[in-house]
Amino acid sequence: MSDDCLVRMENITVQFPGVLALNNVRFDVKRGEVHILLGENGAGKSTIMKVLAGVNTDYQGVIYYKNHEIKSLSVKEQIERGISMIFQETNLLKNLTVAENIFLGRQPTKSNGNVNWNLMNEQARKLLDAIGSNISEKAMVSSLSIGQMQVVEIAKALSYDADIIIMDEPTSALSQKEVEGLFKIIRELTSKGVAIVYISHRLEEIIQIGDRITVFRDGRYVETVPVDGITVDKLISMMVGRSLSEQYPKLHVEPGEKLLEVNNLVQKDSLNNISFYARSNEIVGFYGLMGAGRTELMRAVFGVDPFESGDIHIDGKPVNIRNCLDARKHGIAFLTEDRKNQGLILDFSIKDNIPLVNFDNIMNWFGINQIMNTANCQKLTDSVRVKTPSLNQKTKFLSGGNQQKVVIAKWLNTDSQIFIFDEPTRGIDVGAKSEIYKIMNSLKKEGKAVIMVSSELPETLGVCDRLYVMHDGTITGCFDDMSELTEDEVIKYATGTHK
Ligand SMILES: Nc1ncnc2c1ncn2[C@@H]1O[C@H](COP(=O)(O)OP(=O)(O)OP(=O)(O)O)[C@@H](O)[C@H]1O
Ligand SMILES: [Mg+2]
Repeated sequence: MSDDCLVRMENITVQFPGVLALNNVRFDVKRGEVHILLGENGAGKSTIMKVLAGVNTDYQGVIYYKNHEIKSLSVKEQIERGISMIFQETNLLKNLTVAENIFLGRQPTKSNGNVNWNLMNEQARKLLDAIGSNISEKAMVSSLSIGQMQVVEIAKALSYDADIIIMDEPTSALSQKEVEGLFKIIRELTSKGVAIVYISHRLEEIIQIGDRITVFRDGRYVETVPVDGITVDKLISMMVGRSLSEQYPKLHVEPGEKLLEVNNLVQKDSLNNISFYARSNEIVGFYGLMGAGRTELMRAVFGVDPFESGDIHIDGKPVNIRNCLDARKHGIAFLTEDRKNQGLILDFSIKDNIPLVNFDNIMNWFGINQIMNTANCQKLTDSVRVKTPSLNQKTKFLSGGNQQKVVIAKWLNTDSQIFIFDEPTRGIDVGAKSEIYKIMNSLKKEGKAVIMVSSELPETLGVCDRLYVMHDGTITGCFDDMSELTEDEVIKYATGTHK
């Protein structure tokens, strides 16, 4: 093994009940490099990194670390060796502060053995500043958004002074500024010889930050290539094994009547006199940077959070939505961005999650008709191509992207008129993304109103018929004709620099 090789994993196989997640794969990491791990949802990326990080100790194969063969036995041991990991889904303890989470189990102490709170907070502050984050180190994690939790996970992984940091989709919920902060840190770390394993479905990002790429497909090793000179199209074909002709399938349909209309909605501190509408047969986009108020707006419309003033009309009639049940009754479906906490019951199977918002189509005199439920779930999961050994699989065992698809299947199972998708393609691979756009298109064709909240500009411009841009709780731009709209123009509105 050459000297700059930090880790070499050989013949790694991981078998879960009914799923061969990794089939004899290899992977190696050199000092000072950013090594991208690329593959579709369910390809086995998180699984191999959980082996390296000591989370999954039930594997076959050999791992060499700094020229010695090691056995990955526990997270603690791997951290002591110098391997730390930022997990795809956050695992923070909600009722502790940011600083307490970062230094959990290893708080700095004073000479008398008591926790040195000042020092701990100070160190946490330094880490957060380094990422360019203004989250308070003293904030309770329960008060943070999903993007902010991701920042805390990053700070925590950085705090170990590791030789290898594994980042499993670290930027999926970060703001542009935080992404830039993270990239700056990655460059500083690699210049000191630290190696980064980087997993992301954002292909532009991969080209920007990566040195080498390893591709997995269906639990198998495909190839390892340098990033130099690679294009997004090439990445796509390496990943899915074919080229993808239409990333954003456009469907032209005449828009119909206004199904949802919101007037002058005000929510103290977060939403400032918001008015918008969504018609049947159209996809309306809401673009903005993290914290612009898009999720808050959708939560208010769906009755999750109260608002001070403003009115909502559905099908031209004023409605009073006090809670999610009201929203459901009025035909609104809301696919939340936080699938782990709000979208799924992770201990339930796919089959038990999908009917959660609508039992009607599978009930008979005796309760739930299991045969009907299975057939219905099969149809829905096929339509979004969920990869799973069976419908009885607990959703916690699905890969991140496949969990997202189950959330979508759950809402497709309703007779809703208005579909709100909040970051529907977060963590979803390019192939599956275009599946989801096709689903939105078919809802549009059926006469539904589709609202898509997104932080990804290419998909916003590629998929939506009309667009609202938000900044700081206000709608700064409304575009009925998007044919001439450029990314630069939208960003000006999203940053409030358009005036
Ligand atoms: N604990 C588990 N029990 C059963 N199956 C599992 C478990 N963890 C993962 N799997 C399965 O192993 C396969 C690989 O999953 P993995 O999470 O590694 O995919 P991934 O490449 O990280 O995908 P994504 O891009 O969606 O995050 C998937 O089919 C997944 O459903
Ligand atoms: Mg994963």
